[in-house]
Amino acid sequence: GRTIAVFTSGGDSQGMNSAVRSVVRMGIYLGCKVYFINEGYQGMVDGGDNIRLADWNSVSDIIQKGGTIIGSARCADFRTPEGRLKACFNLLERDITNLVCIGGDGSLTGANQFRKDWPDLIKDLVQQGKITQEKADANPNIQIVGMVGSIDNDFCGTDMTIGTDSALQRIIEAIDAVVSTAQSHQRSFVVEVMGRHCGYLALVTALASEADFCFIPEWPPPSNWRDILCAKLQQQRKEGQRLNIIIVAEGAIDRDGNPITAELVKDVVNKTLKYDTRVTVLGHVQRGGAPSAFDRLLGCRMGAEAVLALMEMTPESEPCVISIDGNQMVRVPLMQCVARTQKVQAAMNEKNWELAVQLRGRS
Ligand code: F6P
Repeated sequence: GRTIAVFTSGGDSQGMNSAVRSVVRMGIYLGCKVYFINEGYQGMVDGGDNIRLADWNSVSDIIQKGGTIIGSARCADFRTPEGRLKACFNLLERDITNLVCIGGDGSLTGANQFRKDWPDLIKDLVQQGKITQEKADANPNIQIVGMVGSIDNDFCGTDMTIGTDSALQRIIEAIDAVVSTAQSHQRSFVVEVMGRHCGYLALVTALASEADFCFIPEWPPPSNWRDILCAKLQQQRKEGQRLNIIIVAEGAIDRDGNPITAELVKDVVNKTLKYDTRVTVLGHVQRGGAPSAFDRLLGCRMGAEAVLALMEMTPESEPCVISIDGNQMVRVPLMQCVARTQKVQAAMNEKNWELAVQLRGRS
């Protein structure tokens, strides 16, 4: 069997534990040795107790937990060649040449860079006398499989990322709660949701909560958005609605690229319409707590597929990402997904909104 290591990197998300559990159990089932790497790339660079052998029971009772039991971090050291050299040595010391990375696009891009550097890294380690030439020859490269763990659903190449569904449930529950109090007091509420530069969470929850208005980064409103917004809210009130819900993605902007914040929207509604308006920022509540059934299952299925993919890989194989396409688990070249995800951001920077929206969709 092979020797595999699994780690979580970047912001955590609900369902990561399910993915870790699945990698460990599928790996052991297929006769592999599976290691945990604690604290993401930082643990890989620091080595020692951060890299420890997993067994069947070490992943019992974690599927229902939010976050990641093996810890996660955003790591500056791994961005340096010295950091990657240490990481390479720590892995080779344990004969680990198969990696499962669960994280966002930054973490997966880092994994790709690591693989590109690997041949030079092992050369350096031989020169420094840290590993033998035989060891270097036996491990000419590292095999890498990624899974996207993020509540944002901002990664091109997969229909859903691990954690998004749980975040949606949490947001919907929160909006339902806000609606009931808004109704009593005839108030308007501006709800800010996460998503970084991606409007998925905002758009989907706006649809599912019957919101009156929604602001997302990929489709900024025209410059007279204040008038359009107020006219819409007024119309809803005229039709008998006692409240308004406006969803603002944290990355929302106008067509000139200026941020549209929840506070700004509140002030507009308050001053123009004189409606009693409040802001609710949901924050990290969206990222915590128990994963939904969907995310548990997604983590399970992606984790198992990740190990199966590794089993077929050779040192020549390019890294892949496990994606959900429809209801199928598929393998997609990692760099293809990263490149497309970066194109979305580039299109947004160039204010090419049509292209940004098009690229966000399925290919
Ligand atoms: O990427 C997930 C996410 O929760 C984003 O929605 C948000 O912008 C960011 O992470 C917050 O990061 P941090 O937890 O480091 O404050």
